[in-house]
Amino acid sequence: MANIAIMGFGTVGSGVAEVVHTNQDSIRRRTLEPVTVKYILDTRDFPNSTYGHLVIHDFSIIEQDPEIQVVVECIGGCGVALDFTRRALLAGKDVVTSNKALVAAHGLELLALAKEQGRNFLFEASVGGGIPVLRPLAFCLAGNRIEEICGILNGTTNYILTKMIRDGEQFDDVLKRAQEKGYAEADPTDDVEGKDACRKICILAALAYGIHVYPEQVYTCGITGIRPQDVACADALGMQIKLFGRTFLTEEGKIALYVSPHLIPNDKPLASVEGVFNAIMIRGNAVGETMFYGRGAGKLPTASAVVGDVVDCILHREKRRAIDWEAGSGEEVVPFESLELRWLVRTEAAAGAVAAALGPVEAVPGQNGAYVTGPVSKAKLDELREKGFSILSAIPVLD
Ligand code: HSE
Repeated sequence: MANIAIMGFGTVGSGVAEVVHTNQDSIRRRTLEPVTVKYILDTRDFPNSTYGHLVIHDFSIIEQDPEIQVVVECIGGCGVALDFTRRALLAGKDVVTSNKALVAAHGLELLALAKEQGRNFLFEASVGGGIPVLRPLAFCLAGNRIEEICGILNGTTNYILTKMIRDGEQFDDVLKRAQEKGYAEADPTDDVEGKDACRKICILAALAYGIHVYPEQVYTCGITGIRPQDVACADALGMQIKLFGRTFLTEEGKIALYVSPHLIPNDKPLASVEGVFNAIMIRGNAVGETMFYGRGAGKLPTASAVVGDVVDCILHREKRRAIDWEAGSGEEVVPFESLELRWLVRTEAAAGAVAAALGPVEAVPGQNGAYVTGPVSKAKLDELREKGFSILSAIPVLD
C-alpha cells in the first residue's frame, strides 16, 4: 500500500482526496498497489467531511511517519508550504504540489534538494490546471529546441474576458462567480494583474530553457487596463483579446518572456479558447506547433494533474523523475522593453503625427485614432509618451 498525506484541504486538496477515492481502481491498475490518504493536514477541522477523521494539525506527524511516501502540498503561497516541502523532502518523502508560486519562486532550490535526497518533486498541476503539459514539455518534446511557448495560462482571466466580451457581463460579477467556482487565487489580483500567469510562464520557460527565471524579472500586464474601445478595435480587425504568457528564443538565442493581453486573429486556435479553459502552444524546431488544451483551474481538473504526479512518484520511487533546471546568470533574458512587436495603439494624435512617430501603420477600420503598428519596441512607445505623444492604450498584436 502507498500512503500519502495531503497538506491543505481547500479546493485542490479536497479534490485530490475525492479523486483518489473515486478512481481507486483505475489508479491501482497503474500503481499495482492501493493508494491511501492517511493524513490531511489543515489548521481547520472538517467534522462533516467523509475525510474528517484523517485531519491532523501537526506537520511533524507526517514528517516522522515512515509509512508516508508522498506528500501532496496544496496549502499555497511560500510560507509554511515552503517549510513543509523542504522538511518533507529532507524526511525522504516525494512531494507533489499544485503551488505555482512555490515552484516559480523556489523551484531551483527544491529541485536541487529533491535531487540530493533522491526524491521526486513534481508539479504538473502548477501550470494549466488539469492539462498535461509540463511532462510532455520535459520528456516528450525533449528532442526539440523549443522556439516558442504561448499560452492562455489563467482560467479566471479567460473566464472574465469571455463573459465580459461575449456576454456583456460586468467585471465584478464575473470575478465573484470565478471565486465561487474555485478558479480564482486567494488574492484575485494575482489573476487579473497577470501575476499567476507570470509564475506559470516562468515554470514553462525553466523547463524549456533549463534556466530559472524569477517572476520579478518578467514584464507582467494583466487585464484590468482593457477598455471597451480595445475590444471594439479587436472586433473590427477580426481578432480576439486574450491574456498570454509568452516565451520565445530571439535570433541571438536569448530568452524573451512576458505576460500581456494580445490581439490574435479569430482563426488561430488560441483565439477560440473560452471560459476557464487554458491552452498552450509549444513550438519545437523538430515537431513544429503543438497545442495543449483543457480546464486550467477548478477542483477536479487540478486534482487530476496532482494525482497523476502521485502515481508517477509511486512508479518512480527507486529512480527519480529527471526534472531539473539551473540558476541563470541573469544575462539570458532580453528586457521586454527592447522586443520589437506589432501593437494596437489608440491615440488622440492626428494621422500625420502618428505616421511621423510610429512609421507606416494600418488604420483600424471604423475606429478613430486606432492603428496597428509595424514592429516597434515598448521602449520606443514609452519614449514617445514621455515626449508628450498621446497613447491611450497599446496592446501587442500577434499574427
Ligand atoms: N487562479 C488560477 C487560474 C488557478 O484561474 O488559472 C489555477 O492555477
